[in-house]
Amino acid sequence: MQIPANVEAKLRELAASGRTLNAYIYDTAPMRAKIAHLASIMPAGVEVYYAMKANPHPAFLKAALESGARGIEIASLGEAEKAVAAGFSPERLIYTGPGKSPEELEWSVANRVHTVHVESLTEAHRLNAIAAGHERKQKVLLRINADFDIHEAQTTFSGGSKKFGVDEEKLDTVLPQILALPHLDFRGLHVYAASGVLRVADLLKNCELVFEMTQRIEAHYPDVVCDIIDFGGGFGVDYLETGEDFDPQAYADGLKAMIESYGLQGRAFMLELGRYLAADSGWFCTEILDIKESRGKKQVICAGGINHFRRPAALAINHPLAILRMERPVLFDDQVSIRGESVYFGGPLCTGADKLANDEYVEAADIGDIAVFGLAGAYGLTMSNQEFLSHARPPEIDLT
Ligand SMILES: Cc1ncc(COP(=O)(O)O)c(C=O)c1O
Repeated sequence: MQIPANVEAKLRELAASGRTLNAYIYDTAPMRAKIAHLASIMPAGVEVYYAMKANPHPAFLKAALESGARGIEIASLGEAEKAVAAGFSPERLIYTGPGKSPEELEWSVANRVHTVHVESLTEAHRLNAIAAGHERKQKVLLRINADFDIHEAQTTFSGGSKKFGVDEEKLDTVLPQILALPHLDFRGLHVYAASGVLRVADLLKNCELVFEMTQRIEAHYPDVVCDIIDFGGGFGVDYLETGEDFDPQAYADGLKAMIESYGLQGRAFMLELGRYLAADSGWFCTEILDIKESRGKKQVICAGGINHFRRPAALAINHPLAILRMERPVLFDDQVSIRGESVYFGGPLCTGADKLANDEYVEAADIGDIAVFGLAGAYGLTMSNQEFLSHARPPEIDLT
């Protein structure tokens, strides 16, 4: 991985203060370019929502707003408040997630979010009662747990027993009950198979499944039109630097052909993308505080660990890594260095789980250098164990 020039310049400026460096650096130019590119290649009707769980920092919400995302996919009231504060009207929010509280549903109806993506019959009844209290009909999609599983994905959301949505085979019993609820306006399906998918064909298979379900529903219920179809997120990024990135053009072409072959032109198709939009707009940068040799392997101890960047440990992968050489004075004669070897990177936490990278080949590193982890703009600080050991929260610095 190459450290971008503006990121390096910022790190050198921060390091000049003499304080221990441990920060997220953001530059949302890649995210803005991706949103604009998707708008230019996707078939008519495809709307890109930013799944803000990937990174709720205001810089990312601003990037989504300014580069023309249709809206924000939210999964909590806290996310709703941040999205509104960033300039998205509630009408541009779509609300997903398997455990929406009555208060969250109340907020959604009162503020007129675009769609609530209902995940169970319980939620449908709860939402119906709340919408009745407002004398309104709430637009809903029904989330389906398809009998389909992308084995190679980093995280799967459908197939097998899942907490997400309603099992596909229960559709025939659940849908009539939802259609009978007078304050719900059923508009279509939400089927999200998996996150972190690099093979376009796998995600297109998911689209095909939803289209087949749509056809079955419309054949069975002549009054029902699924005019909104949500494919979820899932576009992957090349964490392992294989050179094989997700190909959005192939996805767009495949989806266009499929929409035409199923005769579904004129419908709205939602994409709720998190990782693909945000990942390459952020770097986790943490100072190497110590290097020691332990029984044949070098252990690199950084200022931040899973409290600030949990993803590599949680997903058992190494992120792209580059070392910014700082040429600090040595502290003592026998100080350990790294020269062309595979080492372990951990943080300062008192747990063996505090791993940033394992068996990572490093050309050269010394104490005082900065470890810069790439593709850290998505699911970085937001999914980390910040309170554990009460270290200071790392600053998030936006260069945009
Ligand atoms: C409902 C929903 N939509 C969208 C996303 C974003 O997924 P991704 O980051 O893979 O695009 C997620 C991720 O967990 C999700 O749960």
